[in-house]
Amino acid sequence: ADAVRREVLAGLAHDLRTPLTSLRLLAEAIEAEANEDRRRRYARQLSTHVRSLDCLIDDLFELSRIEAGNVDWPLEHVRLHELVEETVDAFESTMAMKGIETQMRVSASLPPAWANPEKLQRVLFNLVQNAVRHTPPHGLVSVAAEAKGARIEVEVRDTGEGIGASERERVFEPFYRAGGETPGAAGLGLAICRAIVEAHGGSIWLAESSRGARIRFSLPSAPP
Ligand SMILES: Nc1ncnc2c1ncn2[C@@H]1O[C@H](COP(=O)(O)OP(=O)(O)OP(=O)(O)O)[C@@H](O)[C@H]1O
Ligand SMILES: [Mg+2]
Repeated sequence: ADAVRREVLAGLAHDLRTPLTSLRLLAEAIEAEANEDRRRRYARQLSTHVRSLDCLIDDLFELSRIEAGNVDWPLEHVRLHELVEETVDAFESTMAMKGIETQMRVSASLPPAWANPEKLQRVLFNLVQNAVRHTPPHGLVSVAAEAKGARIEVEVRDTGEGIGASERERVFEPFYRAGGETPGAAGLGLAICRAIVEAHGGSIWLAESSRGARIRFSLPSAPP
């Protein structure tokens, strides 16, 4: 546990320094720049970096709250059909730009899950974001859900480079990035997914796949 803690702290220090360096350089550039248009452009870039730092800190709070057992989300019947559609929709323009196709196999008659809708949306958002990020142009991102006994199983898959079996567990650790650094990606997305899904009494795992990544998670279905 101590080694993990050290790794998390080192990751955190690193992930704070990178955007802070950008902020410092942009602040210096604004100070030195006489041209009004260029100043405004730098100021806009600076706000973008501040926003991404803000997201990183939100994610860290979210993780530490859940890990401290600070979970008092109200649970309700959640219809996955609508939630999946909404989430995939948020990536429509990014996917259109890359020529990525989407496939949704979530029946409107699927029994509802027993979950907190905002948290569940967060899980779907992080998984679809990863899928879209790792799928090459003209690839396919698909989301499917099915009932399995008293559980609902959801799957997000893509046609990207996939995740190696040796990284099966590590990708769910905070700050872990399998393919090295991606700008704007802290390596917290899957750690948050796992924390949220487990707090609901479900589980999340990397499923066997011959092509691309395939992440599955389960949640309890709503009590009758
Ligand atoms: N769909 C995918 N295809 C290939 N690799 C993936 C996929 N999803 C995740 N990974 C790998 O797992 C690592 C961890 O994913 P995670 O979502 O936790 O972090 P991230 O996407 O790098 O950053 P963040 O989600 O915080 O923006 C990624 O850096 C990537 O190497
Ligand atoms: Mg991610």
